[in-house]
Amino acid sequence: MDFTKHLLFLMLQFLVVLGGDTKPGVRLDIQDKHVIMDNGIVQVNLSNPEGIVTGIRYNGIENLLEVLNEEYDRGYWDIVWDEGGENRTKKGAKGKGRFDRMEATNLTVIVEKEEQVELSFTRTWNASFQGKLPPLNIDKRFILLRGSSGFYTYAIYEHLKEWPAFDIDNTRIAFKPRKDKFHYMSIADNRQRFMPLPDDRIPPRGQVLAYPEAVRLVDPVEPEFKGEVDDKYEYSCESRYNRVHGWMSIDPLNSTGFWLITPSYEFRSAGPLKQYLTSHDGPTTLSVFHSTHYSGADLIMKFGPNEPWKKVYGPIFLYLNSLSNGVSPNKLWEDAKQQMVNEVESWPYTFPASKDFLSSQQRGKVQGRLLVRDRKVSDAFIPVCGAYVGLAAVGDVGSWQRECKGYQFWTITDDKGYFSIINLRPGDYNLYSWVTGYIGDYKFDKIINVTSGCELNVHELVYEPPRDGPTLWEIGIPDRSAAEFYVPDPNPTYINKLYVNHTDRFRQYGLWERYADLYPNKDLVYTVGVSDYRKDWFFAQVNRKKDNGTYQGTTWQINFNLDRVNTNGSYTLRVALASVHNAELQIRINKLEADPVLFSSGVIGKENTIARHGIHGLYWLFSVDVDGTLLVQGNNTIFLTQPMNTSPFIGIMYDYIRLEYKR
Ligand SMILES: *[C@@H]1O[C@H](CO)[C@@H](O)[C@H](O)[C@H]1NC(C)=O
Ligand SMILES: *[C@@H]1O[C@H](CO)[C@@H](O)[C@H](O)[C@H]1NC(C)=O
Ligand SMILES: *[C@@H]1O[C@H](CO)[C@@H](O)[C@H](O)[C@H]1NC(C)=O
Ligand SMILES: *[C@@H]1O[C@H](CO)[C@@H](O)[C@H](O)[C@H]1NC(C)=O
Ligand SMILES: *[C@@H]1O[C@H](CO)[C@@H](O)[C@H](O)[C@H]1NC(C)=O
Ligand SMILES: *[C@@H]1O[C@H](CO)[C@@H](O)[C@H](O)[C@H]1NC(C)=O
Ligand SMILES: *[C@@H]1O[C@H](CO)[C@@H](O)[C@H](O)[C@H]1NC(C)=O
Ligand SMILES: *[C@@H]1O[C@H](CO)[C@@H](O)[C@H](O)[C@H]1NC(C)=O
Ligand SMILES: *[C@@H]1O[C@H](CO)[C@@H](O)[C@H](O)[C@H]1NC(C)=O
Ligand SMILES: *[C@@H]1O[C@H](CO)[C@@H](O)[C@H](O)[C@H]1NC(C)=O
Repeated sequence: MDFTKHLLFLMLQFLVVLGGDTKPGVRLDIQDKHVIMDNGIVQVNLSNPEGIVTGIRYNGIENLLEVLNEEYDRGYWDIVWDEGGENRTKKGAKGKGRFDRMEATNLTVIVEKEEQVELSFTRTWNASFQGKLPPLNIDKRFILLRGSSGFYTYAIYEHLKEWPAFDIDNTRIAFKPRKDKFHYMSIADNRQRFMPLPDDRIPPRGQVLAYPEAVRLVDPVEPEFKGEVDDKYEYSCESRYNRVHGWMSIDPLNSTGFWLITPSYEFRSAGPLKQYLTSHDGPTTLSVFHSTHYSGADLIMKFGPNEPWKKVYGPIFLYLNSLSNGVSPNKLWEDAKQQMVNEVESWPYTFPASKDFLSSQQRGKVQGRLLVRDRKVSDAFIPVCGAYVGLAAVGDVGSWQRECKGYQFWTITDDKGYFSIINLRPGDYNLYSWVTGYIGDYKFDKIINVTSGCELNVHELVYEPPRDGPTLWEIGIPDRSAAEFYVPDPNPTYINKLYVNHTDRFRQYGLWERYADLYPNKDLVYTVGVSDYRKDWFFAQVNRKKDNGTYQGTTWQINFNLDRVNTNGSYTLRVALASVHNAELQIRINKLEADPVLFSSGVIGKENTIARHGIHGLYWLFSVDVDGTLLVQGNNTIFLTQPMNTSPFIGIMYDYIRLEYKR
């Protein structure tokens, strides 16, 4: 650094310090129908006592939220719920539930200092609300700190012991930035684009495709979007990567960014792989805490009539940034990502005033090391790098992917297999893991009791994945995803330009229809040793559409040659699925007409992953015993039949298939 630069740097530091000292304190103004928090950078306007964000003033813009929307439709917490058990409504039984905007009835000022204002908007349940409101006490909190370019929000949900049974399908916070300014959306480094206007989705500008969320833009206001498909599910994201996303208002002289930052996913349902909506056309920016998306009815949160429950969702940070001279949108995105890192490093936050949000001193830590021993292949204890290890509610092996009521805490192993899971809330947990490259799920057999300040060490844990003998052949990579298989190009009529030539090409609309284009009459045949799963294994076993508009189930074949067969022996077929929707997997060997079938999964799965462009939903592993008498020396064929045929969205995504010789 040369002298001038050094001097400049010092002066800047001085200015920053000076600036810090002179930042105005946070002011609170409680009016009849509104309450306003203002720190001189951001002004947040909330309805009183409902606790709905009606206005956000920032960077000289009077309101960043959509002023054309009603006040209640700009920034709000909501819940989709239903009565429990036999009282769940018919509509609810189909997974729709009832919508509640969680309007509070009482405002309490929790903190009012120069450094911080914290507001609590509460709604207390009693029996007179039975069947009308979810049986929950709700406490929505909003925090504005001095000098902060944004605000925090979190909420505490509580169901008391004697209250009725009920279900939660979905809960989240939604923000609707104004459509005249926010046109550029960003979810990841390689997932950002200029977006169409919400008006473009409405007929005749937009044409609804196979379901209302997917719209083809036939006459958009901006011609550049003509012919593209818009669908919010193309922008979903796994929890582990869903930490910052949002919108930018781009003006060469004066750009503004509007971001949601989620510093921890401890409060989100169902672990690191659960996919959630993020930002999408509207403009809309969501922080979803619980949903059934990509999982189905298994993820409806069901509470019994005598089930006390309390959970803290958040805090999350609504972050605003701006730049004022000829910037590329990338600068605001890079700054938002940096802010996300800062928030992650500050977790757990020190400032939330609710005693239900635990400070780092109240939390514990568990460390250890994970090794894999793939018996029958090698006796080695293999340290694995990058394996997910987590604590979640006490349950069965693999139960974390359906677990919603508690908190989950995950980390990944280092290159020697060591892990350290920090910031654990006290309670009883099981430790779970899964390892890319190996099938199955690990669970440590002891319950782990986390207490405040504890530092537990579980030492060396050994995962022995399911294995009866050496591999005769395998298809795919055991990684809980179908991404390595053949993902076709979309029909040119259904393109989202963002995903052309993209690593996430599976997010294009309508890929399910491409199967019938590629296999118009005969189904897929895969020959071990000749075929390449990256080219020859379609990413989903979907139905074939016939000319008369009906659908037809399919039977895929795996051909393989065995030089020798132990007809007295036995073999094991491992079939790992990355997702299933209303489908049945039937397996037969060498006789397509075999009855009974060697294996049937029964009709399983409600994950709706094919329609929602996910490349995985829930993980399923089936191990099928194959008697040696079923096999022959020479050519053999495994038939994979999926007979359910009432919709284009029914089907199976495979993760990995392997034949083992047992003995
Ligand atoms: C707060 O929002 C309401 C509704 O949009 C508006 O009438 C009121 O003027 C706002 N208050 C301030 C101080 O901006
Ligand atoms: C940005 O634009 C707003 C109005 O759109 C204006 O009030 C504000 O002063 C501008 N900020 C800068 C730094 O130019
Ligand atoms: C409502 O808020 C006031 C203060 O704003 C507080 O004194 C009172 O206890 C609250 N009532 C309930 C039922 O929470
Ligand atoms: C239930 O709460 C409402 C709203 O606070 C109140 O008006 C009503 O009296 C309460 N009913 C009972 C039975 O406590
Ligand atoms: C169903 O509703 C009835 C009447 O409100 C109630 O008595 C019963 O406990 C409810 N059942 C459950 C499972 O909540
Ligand atoms: C875990 O620890 C807490 C607090 O010490 C205790 O109340 C609880 O019973 C313990 N649970 C188990 C399974 O040991
Ligand atoms: C996609 O990538 C290929 C090879 O990298 C290139 O030839 C082709 O032009 C690209 N297509 C589009 C639409 O960008
Ligand atoms: C539609 O066509 C398929 C064969 O292409 C046939 O099996 C089926 O019966 C037809 N269904 C109707 C309702 O015409
Ligand atoms: C199968 O077992 C029978 C009887 O035990 C034996 O005679 C035969 O050699 C065995 N065949 C093979 C292939 O091991
Ligand atoms: C076995 O299958 C291969 C590939 O499909 C084929 O080329 C070969 O002729 C078959 N052999 C026998 C004995 O059927």
